[in-house]
Amino acid sequence: MTNPLDISPSAVISPDARIFPSTRGSAIRIGNFSHVMEFAIIRAVGGAGDVSIGEHSYINPHCVLYSGNGIDIGDHVLIAPGTCIVPANHAFRTRDLPIRLQGFKESRGGVVIEDGVWLGANCVVLDGSRIRRGAIVGAGSVVTGEIPEYSIWAGIPAKAIGMRP
Ligand SMILES: CC(C)(COP(=O)(O)OP(=O)(O)OC[C@H]1O[C@@H](n2cnc3c(N)ncnc32)[C@H](O)[C@@H]1OP(=O)(O)O)[C@@H](O)C(=O)NCCC(=O)NCCS
Repeated sequence: MTNPLDISPSAVISPDARIFPSTRGSAIRIGNFSHVMEFAIIRAVGGAGDVSIGEHSYINPHCVLYSGNGIDIGDHVLIAPGTCIVPANHAFRTRDLPIRLQGFKESRGGVVIEDGVWLGANCVVLDGSRIRRGAIVGAGSVVTGEIPEYSIWAGIPAKAIGMRP
């Protein structure tokens, strides 16, 4: 059986962070020397995906990561305060039931954030997003899809505003 919580002994987890492992078989993994800072929340909920954080990555205060359809974060990733990564969508196919009772939409593949990405403060990253190696996402952006490597994106929805030199 998958270990529901696999945290490297060298990872730094604030005593004020909250991590809620799955009771249904998905996993949360946090790699060597990664930091999860105070008041960040990582919760296995809303789907069968895992949350995987590589090495030397930083999840800053007040970030919320719900596993949903899966979150795969690479190495040396910086996620600024207040960012919300929830790769799941409630279904809303009928008006005759509260959304709460309609389950979830089909997965769009979860969220992938590759090595060396920097996400600014208060971003929202939606299911199906792929943020490629070394990209930057500006503060307050909503990411909905593919962001090419080493590019700079910002806004709602996020659009390209430049390239890294
Ligand atoms: C994305 C960012 C790195 C871009 O910096 P930059 O390359 O110096 O970009 P500029 O300031 O030259 O802005 C370029 C254009 O993008 C726009 N822009 C920049 N950041 C933006 C943002 N977050 N949302 C929307 N538009 C943004 C600017 O208004 C400008 O538009 P214009 O050309 O029409 O005038 C920076 O703006 C940012 O958002 N940093 C995040 C800071 C943060 O969250 N820190 C947390 C601590 S880790």
